[in-house]
Amino acid sequence: MKGSSVTSSAQLTEITVQQVAGRIGAEISGVDLREELDEATVAEIRQAVLTHRVVFFRGQDLTHAQHIAFGRRFGALTRRPGKKHGVHPEGHPEILTVDPKRDTERYGADFEEHYRRKWLSPLAGWHSDLTQAVNPPSLSILRAEKTPDFGGDTQWTNTVAAYEGLSAPLREFVDGLTAEHAFFTAVHLRHSDERDREILKLYCEDPQVAVHPVVRVHPETGEKALFVSPGSTTRITGFTELESRHLLELLFQHLTSAEYTVRFRWEPGSMAFWDNRSTCHLAPTDFAHLDVDRVMHRVTVLGEPAQGPDGFVSRLVSGEPMRAW
Ligand SMILES: [Fe+2]
Repeated sequence: MKGSSVTSSAQLTEITVQQVAGRIGAEISGVDLREELDEATVAEIRQAVLTHRVVFFRGQDLTHAQHIAFGRRFGALTRRPGKKHGVHPEGHPEILTVDPKRDTERYGADFEEHYRRKWLSPLAGWHSDLTQAVNPPSLSILRAEKTPDFGGDTQWTNTVAAYEGLSAPLREFVDGLTAEHAFFTAVHLRHSDERDREILKLYCEDPQVAVHPVVRVHPETGEKALFVSPGSTTRITGFTELESRHLLELLFQHLTSAEYTVRFRWEPGSMAFWDNRSTCHLAPTDFAHLDVDRVMHRVTVLGEPAQGPDGFVSRLVSGEPMRAW
């Protein structure tokens, strides 16, 4: 594929957007994200995210403050309700640090294994960020600080392409459905014992649950996307347990098909910037057995309740909505 480029006269930088897979993903070069970007450059990056669903940057050696400042160019950053905001760098609560070694300190040495043993399907790790909230974040920006020499790649799937890849009668059928989303109790994650409740209590005080449309109309592009994921969808509303499990299984298998995905190899200074309204992603599961450091930092941009093709708007079941910092 040919890349597109736009020259911003104010900064005399040339941004290049190079598509990297057939249905999703592009690499952006020619921009230094440590700088204060002009409006045209911010608009170009936003458009690339909308078009390609996830974009990648290399060699961006940002400080935490620069990461936060970059994120704020795209909207208010999200703040989880309650006092617990996960692991974050000292003085920067807007950032969520993703570091399995810190999770081990927090949740116990066997946390990873305990968690994985609850998975009922290898697809269980696929999710869109924080869809248990009635207003999940629209955008996520993840920056790599320390990465292993091998292992730890992240994958994304294009949920607009996946929706469009369904047969017409099935598209029409799912257009009118709604589904419940919750953290830790998704259909592919059976959490039930005392240890689970302890981990959940450490993770959040007031677990969020929301009902979203199964098909989401993208508020910026008007495209329709599948809005269910193995990691957080618990059931289709109004269906029996059996009906719900079978239909979700079909949708989960479809939306994680390799044809809709892209895989990214991280290096220190790599960044991925994705649209949670048109993607799901899979956190890596192939490096827990390696004694390596992998430290990532994420900011998320405040989103809005999802809207379905029939006008249904996400409903809060429990917990509080995400707020802005
Ligand atoms: Fe995620």
